[in-house]
Amino acid sequence: MSEPDTYRAVMGSDLFIRELLPGDLPQVLEIERQGYSHPWAETVFRDCFRENYRLWAAWRGDVLVGYAVVAYMFDEAHLLNLCIHPDSRGQGTARLLLRHMLAEASREQMWQVILEVRTSNAVANGLYASEGFEEIGRRPDYYPGASGREDACVMVFRLRH
Ligand SMILES: CC(C)(COP(=O)(O)OP(=O)(O)OC[C@H]1O[C@@H](n2cnc3c(N)ncnc32)[C@H](O)[C@@H]1OP(=O)(O)O)[C@@H](O)C(=O)NCCC(=O)NCCS
Repeated sequence: MSEPDTYRAVMGSDLFIRELLPGDLPQVLEIERQGYSHPWAETVFRDCFRENYRLWAAWRGDVLVGYAVVAYMFDEAHLLNLCIHPDSRGQGTARLLLRHMLAEASREQMWQVILEVRTSNAVANGLYASEGFEEIGRRPDYYPGASGREDACVMVFRLRH
C-alpha cells in the first residue's frame, strides 16, 4: 500500500500511517493491554482482517505507536478501536489516524462514520468533538466497568450531506 504524503506528519516528524498487518499484532496487543481496562483478545483482532474492515497503524520511525480498526457496513463506517501507546500520547497521533481513516472512508464513498466512546473518556470525547463528530445518542450500560456498567456516547461524522 502506498503511504499518502498527506498522512506523513508535520515537518520534522517521523510519524506516518500505513495499513496494519497480521504481523504487527504482537505490538498491537501490548498497546491494547495498556490502553484499556477491558482489552480486545487477539482472536478479536484476527477476526478483523476481512474484506470490509480497514486497519491502520501509526508508526514513529520503526516503532508502532497506535492503530485504528474500522468496519465498513454498506455505506457506513464504524470506528471500533483507536488506541495509542501511553508513551506516545499527546503528540497528535490519534488525530492523524482519525483524519486518515476519515479521508479513506470518504474516498471509499462511505456516507458517515459512527463510533461509541465511554462517557467518562474525556480525552477521546474531546478529540472526536474537535474533529467534527457530533453526539447522536447514548447506549445505556454499554461498557463493562470497574464499578458497574458505563454508558456509551454514540457519535457521528457525516461525510456526505
Ligand atoms: C484517546 C487517545 C486515543 C488519544 O490519543 P493521543 O494520540 O494522545 O491524542 P492526540 O495527541 O491526537 O490529541 C488529540 C486531542 O485529544 C485531547 N487530549 C490529548 N491528550 C490529552 C490529555 N492528556 N488531557 C486532555 N485532553 C487531551 C486534546 O484535545 C488533543 O488535541 P490538541 O493536542 O490539539 O489539544 C489515547 O489517549 C488512548 O489511546 N487512550 C486509550 C484508548 C482509548 O480510550 N481510545 C478511545 C476509545 S473510543
